Amino acid sequence: MKGIILAGGRGTRLYPNTKVVSKQLLPIYDKPLIYYPLSVLLLARIREILIISTPEDTPDYQELFGDGSHLGIEISYKIQDTPRGLADAFILGEDFIGDDSVCLVLGDNVFYGQYFSQLLSDSQEQMAEGGAVIFGYPVANPREFGVVEFDENNRVLSIEEKPQHPKSSYAVPGLYFYDNEVIRIAKSVKPSARGEIEITAVNNAYLEMDKLKVGLMGRGMAWLDTGSPKGMLKAAQFVQTVQDMQGFYISCIEELAWRKGFITTEQLEKLGTELKMTDYGQYLLRLAEENR
Ligand code: DAU
Repeated sequence: MKGIILAGGRGTRLYPNTKVVSKQLLPIYDKPLIYYPLSVLLLARIREILIISTPEDTPDYQELFGDGSHLGIEISYKIQDTPRGLADAFILGEDFIGDDSVCLVLGDNVFYGQYFSQLLSDSQEQMAEGGAVIFGYPVANPREFGVVEFDENNRVLSIEEKPQHPKSSYAVPGLYFYDNEVIRIAKSVKPSARGEIEITAVNNAYLEMDKLKVGLMGRGMAWLDTGSPKGMLKAAQFVQTVQDMQGFYISCIEELAWRKGFITTEQLEKLGTELKMTDYGQYLLRLAEENR
């Protein structure tokens, strides 16, 4: 399975913060926002990853992650010259995806929770039958998201993009699993009223084929909003609180790469040494030390 992180867009809702910096490079407490979606792919053991961003911002991502070899993964890059919509990820990513299935994670989505790892592996298992897996997360403001309606057996009944009259309070977070059909489907999607090729149209195509499954994220899961300065501050406070209380870091990509066996303890130590003047670097060094 391949992984795509969509990290483009104009970030206009966060101006002036994002006037000259990509939204997904802004910090959430002690690490750039994109570390959080990247950690989702690492948690799912996906090692071939494509980062899609704007012509201006792509060089910054290349500088940040290089080819990913320091994390034992392969990262490549693709430019989206204009924000045509989320489904564009599969058109731009066609060669990268090849004959494989794919997991798309939006570059501004932050997930954290005890059973998240299990949810990811269950979803990947479900993907063995093909089709698509999306998620549902209960929110107070469903109008601002894709909204999924389902019956008591979790069969999807409808999925709508930012509906005026939501049929449920379950938003669809920016994390999606698709089989290879997604490339063909994305190419057939027509732009919506807001001029974008919507991911919700892709999901509706899977629903029509009766191949759309939904996994529910329950109370133990945090899906944090980064759509406004207030949301970003709250997300940062959440990360700080959990890290301070438990001593475990959230979405530490070096730790994940090491725990998944993509890099050795020696490599982890080297990464920690490079950052040793920070708490982040000291955390990596402590992990390496405790596991010698
Ligand atoms: O966050 C979950 C929501 O994301 C879903 O519930 C919605 O169904 C889905 O449409 C999407 O809604 P948003 O309106 O929040 O999407 P937004 O345009 O903000 O884009 C999400 C991220 O993708 C953001 O980091 C910018 C990036 N992006 C967006 C577009 C349209 C791109 O890289 N390229 C694009 O063409």
